[in-house]
Amino acid sequence: MSTQLSATETSKVTTRTLQEMKRSGIPIAMLTAYDYTSARILDASGIDVILVGDSASNVMAGHETTLPITLDQMIYHAQCVVRGVKRALVVVDLPFGSYQGNSKEALSSAIRVMKESGAHAVKMEGGSAIVGGVKRLIEAGIPVMGHLGLTPQSIYRFGSYQVRAREDEEAELLKEDAILLQEAGSFGIVLEKIPAELATEVSLSLLIPTIGIGAGNSCDGQVLVTHDALGLTTDFNPRFVRRYARLDEMIKTMVQQYIADVRSRDFPSKNESY
Ligand code: KIV
Repeated sequence: MSTQLSATETSKVTTRTLQEMKRSGIPIAMLTAYDYTSARILDASGIDVILVGDSASNVMAGHETTLPITLDQMIYHAQCVVRGVKRALVVVDLPFGSYQGNSKEALSSAIRVMKESGAHAVKMEGGSAIVGGVKRLIEAGIPVMGHLGLTPQSIYRFGSYQVRAREDEEAELLKEDAILLQEAGSFGIVLEKIPAELATEVSLSLLIPTIGIGAGNSCDGQVLVTHDALGLTTDFNPRFVRRYARLDEMIKTMVQQYIADVRSRDFPSKNESY
């Protein structure tokens, strides 16, 4: 087996790369990051897309929902991430309240993100209600990723984090929204927490890639919140999260060892002193 990296593994990921990956049947791997150090590690590991998610509101700031995070705060996180990335495509969530008003507001928020952070694309939640804004951004040269299904910025309308589009009516609307987003020029769509069968149907009906989170195995790619995958968050346990590590346990053990070393004056040693 060749140990050489293929061109797609070494060159910069663009929205076009993602279209090609869909065409070639290569699943797209996407994770979230909110800071320079994590972004650098994810990028060096070969991740295709880094999402500066508004999940920063939960995992970085400790809010219950994604609603409180501001455009300025998202831009700050995006700036930190962009400084750590050489290869991955960096997509930034437009936060709640920064684009729903009208397409002019959406455009000025997205321009701020692109200009002030150097990110490569934005993500927006919703379908027909925001499609005018999506079109306007794309006309201005800003790549847009859609997000359908369980859209956390609408949590108070949904009333719970349960699976969306189980009923025919909502499933039909979601399929129509996916087509509308594709026609508006979106380069991809996140499908969150919907039945796997519906996600398969949507993925097959589109030319642009779908990225699933709790949407089964036939999406064109997958995304997880990195803090969940690393086991840093422990109070959030939906079935779609696979924990690749228990960093919470590792960190606790390490911190307890450090405290013991300080208390016993084992740390610092002579070699660790000047
Ligand atoms: O904000 C976020 O992390 C997201 C993912 C859950 C897709 O939107």
